[in-house]
Amino acid sequence: MRRRDLLSALAVPAALPTDTLFRKDAERYWLQLRKEQFLLPDSRAFMNNGSLGVTPRPVLKAVEEYMENAAALTIPEYEYPRWGYESLDSQRTIAAAFLGCRKEDLAFTHNATEALSTIAAGIDLKPGDEVLSTDQEHPSGRAGWLLKQARYGNPFREVPMPIPPASPDALADALLSAIGPRTRVLFFSGILSATGLVMPVRKICDAARAKGLITVVDGAHVNGQIPLRLDEMGCDYYAGSPHKWMFAPAGSGILYGRPEMLERLWPSIVTGGWDRKQDHAERFMKVGTNNRAIIEGMVAGIRFGNEIGWPRIYDRIHSLARTARARAAALPYVKLLTPDNDALYGSLISIDLDKKIANPFMAECERRKIWIVRGTRIRVSSHIHTRPQDIDAFFGTLEEVAKKTGV
Ligand SMILES: Cc1ncc(COP(=O)(O)O)c(C=O)c1O
Repeated sequence: MRRRDLLSALAVPAALPTDTLFRKDAERYWLQLRKEQFLLPDSRAFMNNGSLGVTPRPVLKAVEEYMENAAALTIPEYEYPRWGYESLDSQRTIAAAFLGCRKEDLAFTHNATEALSTIAAGIDLKPGDEVLSTDQEHPSGRAGWLLKQARYGNPFREVPMPIPPASPDALADALLSAIGPRTRVLFFSGILSATGLVMPVRKICDAARAKGLITVVDGAHVNGQIPLRLDEMGCDYYAGSPHKWMFAPAGSGILYGRPEMLERLWPSIVTGGWDRKQDHAERFMKVGTNNRAIIEGMVAGIRFGNEIGWPRIYDRIHSLARTARARAAALPYVKLLTPDNDALYGSLISIDLDKKIANPFMAECERRKIWIVRGTRIRVSSHIHTRPQDIDAFFGTLEEVAKKTGV
């Protein structure tokens, strides 16, 4: 898209397609929504929301508008546009309503990595206290504990998860049965990054709490992909990445903690106010000058989802994933890692492919502009702009490549 077209696209906010259209012809509703609310060209099939989502027009517009107003200083509210020193109460109130928690318990960060690092660094452990985790964690989740292990000697132990699991309980049991006498912290993802498997978070957290353990959930894939209420998850700390599934611009993160646990957490990046515990989560947003436009974009993303209706979004993206799963299940050369159990996945399914097919398949996807994560473990992660034809293109390409390679 040329720059002129882009600017005019941002200037004219299109109304969402109507509910009447949704009821009459849901496929047309989603196609129209993609066409009018996203900048994605028709030629792109984007199924890599698990890495980073695509920002819709209202979000881009909010970011741009904020930057312009800040530069022009035209609105008194914008006179001091530095979110690294502000409490951002109205923005946190909107985010907290969506995430299901109190605004006082929620801080904005730049990404999940920052929130995860802050949590790992900020928890006091005694010598020998152990952190127990799964063998499926993202490097951004593992690294904070590995650093702690290297620096203070607190062991970080990773337990193999059964993949694919027979049931949600199988995942909980694998982790909970590995708790040992020195275990002090349980750290795990709410949705496992490489496979999209949904962990039974509440069950694990309740069992851990009963044993007096601290629970830390890496929710990078949770908020926006499946329904959640942070204050009902049962965890002590949670880190999230709104730029994956919540339509937020890149550079948005969240850190949540239960009130009494936030009080016990040390901040890492600090300026004035770092020790004002009465400010609750706000202490973790006092990090120095930042780009508030990103936060305005994140809030616009939540509003965009509210307007469509998050239940409608969750239904749509899960049904796309179910379609992709069924296609994968029919292919003998695919190892499907997503079980036939709706409780175990949201909108991200994953498959293992033999290198012999995976390499030419990746190359072909690139040529045909089908965006997915690269490797022999492939994730298909769809959002509301993903079209059924995109899933067809993915599997059609895979079938062609398989035929050619003779598997
Ligand atoms: C499970 C998980 N945790 C953490 C991260 C890091 O997220 P961010 O890039 O927002 O810091 C990712 C990113 O893919 C992830 O999948």
